[in-house]
Amino acid sequence: MDFEIRYKDAMARIGTFETPHGTVTTPNLMPVVHPGKQTLDVKQFGAEIVITNSYIIYKNEHLKEKALKDGVHSLIDFPGTIETDSGSFQLSVYGDIDINNEEVIKFQEAIGTDIGTSLDIPTAPYVKREEAEEDLKITIERAEEASKVRKKLLLNSVVQGSTYPDLREYCAKEISKYDADIYPIGAVVPLMEMYRYADLVDAVMYSMRGLPENKPRHLMGAGHPMVFALAVAMGCDLFDSAAYILYANKDRFMMPDGTLKLENLIEMPCSCRVCTEHTPDQLRQMPQEQRAKLIAEHNLHISFAEIRRIRQAIVDGELMKLVETRCRSHPFLLDGLRRLQEYTDDMEKLNPSSKKSAFFYTGYESLSRSEVQRHKEKLENITPKNKNLIILPSTSKPYSKHANKEYIKKYTPKIPTFYSKTTNTDYTESDIVIADIPFGIIPLGLDEFYPLAQNESPTNTDENSKKYIQQAINEYSQKYENILIHRKVVGKYDLTDYKLIEEELKLPEAKVTDFDRLKTIADYQFGKGSGDALFGDNPEKIKIEKSKKTGKIRHVYQDDDIIVNMRANDGFLILSDLGAIRLHKHLPSPNLRVVVSEDSEPYALKGKSVFNKFVIDCDEKIRRNDEVLIVNKDDKLLACGKSLLSSYEIKDFNTGQAIKTRKIKKLTG
Ligand code: GUN
Ligand code: ZN
Repeated sequence: MDFEIRYKDAMARIGTFETPHGTVTTPNLMPVVHPGKQTLDVKQFGAEIVITNSYIIYKNEHLKEKALKDGVHSLIDFPGTIETDSGSFQLSVYGDIDINNEEVIKFQEAIGTDIGTSLDIPTAPYVKREEAEEDLKITIERAEEASKVRKKLLLNSVVQGSTYPDLREYCAKEISKYDADIYPIGAVVPLMEMYRYADLVDAVMYSMRGLPENKPRHLMGAGHPMVFALAVAMGCDLFDSAAYILYANKDRFMMPDGTLKLENLIEMPCSCRVCTEHTPDQLRQMPQEQRAKLIAEHNLHISFAEIRRIRQAIVDGELMKLVETRCRSHPFLLDGLRRLQEYTDDMEKLNPSSKKSAFFYTGYESLSRSEVQRHKEKLENITPKNKNLIILPSTSKPYSKHANKEYIKKYTPKIPTFYSKTTNTDYTESDIVIADIPFGIIPLGLDEFYPLAQNESPTNTDENSKKYIQQAINEYSQKYENILIHRKVVGKYDLTDYKLIEEELKLPEAKVTDFDRLKTIADYQFGKGSGDALFGDNPEKIKIEKSKKTGKIRHVYQDDDIIVNMRANDGFLILSDLGAIRLHKHLPSPNLRVVVSEDSEPYALKGKSVFNKFVIDCDEKIRRNDEVLIVNKDDKLLACGKSLLSSYEIKDFNTGQAIKTRKIKKLTG
């Protein structure tokens, strides 16, 4: 089964896969349909895929006979994709069931399920390690057996390992060898019931470390919309919910930020059909069964609405804002979010380098988003030009338009404005940076680059942010001899080691030339020295064309040849022929490289998209939306382009596009 990624944000994927009964888009919710007593018609809610239980069908003579004769689609009256569970859950509740792994796979195949599940052992959380290991051994053996027994059936292979993160990762790696189609993460229901969201995050994130990127993952038994955003951001693609019924039976309304009890309602909580056509009193007076059906309808409506909301957030590149917002609805979910801060590196590996929306700071947890970490790493690419550093406070953006006017021109020697540790007074030759939340230090030349130009944070600074900025300033200052810091920075972030300078200072203009801007961006985006390699050291030798409308750089030429273009929405440099040739010469392999097989060389040369299956190797640092160099195995430059995936995805996928290619007309220059 081929899974194709269309949009990405954090570890989340909007993707599609095909089954014999249609296309499924992820992330998605599979309503649980009871094969014998379903009352709601889930088709009406837009369900593309449902889950039902093959063991319940197997155990009931009447259902079994009908399923074997007419198929499961007819049995539950659902024409779309059907996934079936195997009875593992019953096994975990009753301790024993009367069907074995091979039989349950064959039975699922026989009733025409699209996606079947092997008989994994859902080991409870917090059991002894030996027990978890013993169960795991069986789960892995059964995964292997299932892969041999199934014929056309698409296969679920479940990650177990209880609350031992290393066992989760081990299990994920082992079962991945048997080429299943979907990888569910199992035995997490008890964690969610106990509100142990931090442990849930560990179980999921360690499972992810062992799972391939090219298959959908299903968080088994997760049915409350409150956890969807968090789970999707961790890379979960599918959810299943019996919760919409179970909650309804207890008169509970699910909401994306929690649960409401009918007994407390004076107003209906949403604008779905049920909530607009009934009052709480009317519902309370209804017979229980009739009421439960209506509340289930609301619950399903809210759950699908949350899935749609999450998809929109992925496309817009603001999923983490949604996650941080949702996780504030319960302190234990906030524990989950805070645990997720330990996985910034994992998230960074799969997070696109540029997004549509601005970075909105929602609280100190935002400082752990991978954009912030990535900026810190990329800053290392920038070599100081001077011995002196001037640190200015934030202004309106872009900083370079406002900083001079607000802070340097206004400077009068009579009113001391700057602090320093040294007694130097001549700062005419200085590097100028801005200190701001959430990115810490921002060189002026990067003030139009994503996400440094596209972010907002509150002016009222919290203690964590202060500490974070203090550290960022300390680290960045290491490279300089003299550091001059504006009064507002010292005050706002409680910097203590700096003394007010009473002497008159010689200050430069807080401005950046187009040439310096280009070189700073090139170093930051591509790596140390790339600015020199692309643009040389003589501003006279290149020609810069700007947009008449925005005044921003659009094209950079050497004579008549374009070196780079600048992408308007994120300020990224887009390589043209000359740029690609120069960077290829300057940066040694594997930097920026996507190595393609011999068969696909002619296609790359013609500027055709590079497909994942033709990529032999690629630079680990490549992320979605990055510029890349397409080369053959001898590092001969063939073309350049924009990556559609992260290096980790390119390596795991054997289908779909990896690179949107641009032809290079002349391969010398
Ligand atoms: N439903 C909820 N949890 C699980 C699990 O761990 N395994 C299976 N097969 N089904 C589940
Ligand atoms: Zn409603």
